[in-house]
Amino acid sequence: LTEKSLKCLNVLVTAGPTREFFDPVRFISNPSSGKMGYALARVASLKGAEVCLVSGPTHIEAPPGVSLIPVVSALEMHSAVVERAPRCDVVIMAAAVGDYRPDVQSESKIKKGDKEITIRVVPNPDILAELGRQKREGQVLVGFAAETDDIVENARLKLLKKNLDMIVANDVRDPRSGFAVDTNRVKLIFGSGDVVDLPPMSKDEVALKIFDYVEELVKRREGF
Ligand code: PMT
Repeated sequence: LTEKSLKCLNVLVTAGPTREFFDPVRFISNPSSGKMGYALARVASLKGAEVCLVSGPTHIEAPPGVSLIPVVSALEMHSAVVERAPRCDVVIMAAAVGDYRPDVQSESKIKKGDKEITIRVVPNPDILAELGRQKREGQVLVGFAAETDDIVENARLKLLKKNLDMIVANDVRDPRSGFAVDTNRVKLIFGSGDVVDLPPMSKDEVALKIFDYVEELVKRREGF
């Protein structure tokens, strides 16, 4: 990593889960630890990029030199990302954004009782799909796909629907990949139709691989 191959590039990475509160002490979330996103931010910074890391709540410290924007909910992540993405050359969304939020957030703690309660949820905005619609020329957009079935097919549909250059698909049922573990087993899927199937490796190594391909995509954009 001595070669500063991402020098002069602005890179935005998202990481971690979101929390969708329905009262002051209770929320809907997912098991994302932030490890994958923080590894990406660390590698981008070591490669010389100016890195902004928009992160949901995690227990990880921001890598040195990375500017951390902490957020809690999907709506907060949406505002933070949509505001900054237009001036970024590369955006990588590794965050596990909550697809739904409770439609009402009670100001007081809901009292425990014997009766059933129902939490109604409404869809959150799809941040990456919005970035895909606004993608400017030269910008490289990378998404992740957390899948349990038909990994490549489902990830490819997300790549097309969200207008991405590359999607990183991980099988979240495999104990060596996905949420919270230190390793990941991913397939990189490109707009061209190419699929690169990588063996299980540490999330730091996955991040290095991802940036090898991102650098290629950036070069192609610049017309090298
Ligand atoms: O954090 P770790 O513990 O290291 O775990 C890593 C990980 C499993 C969280 C990561 O590898 C991963 O797969 N991240 C994406 C999780 C996810 O939300 O996948 P998805 O298939 O539901 O979403 C597809 C893409 O759209 C993702 O890039 C996601 O960030 C984005 N998205 C999703 C919903 C939404 N409302 N807005 C979005 O931008």
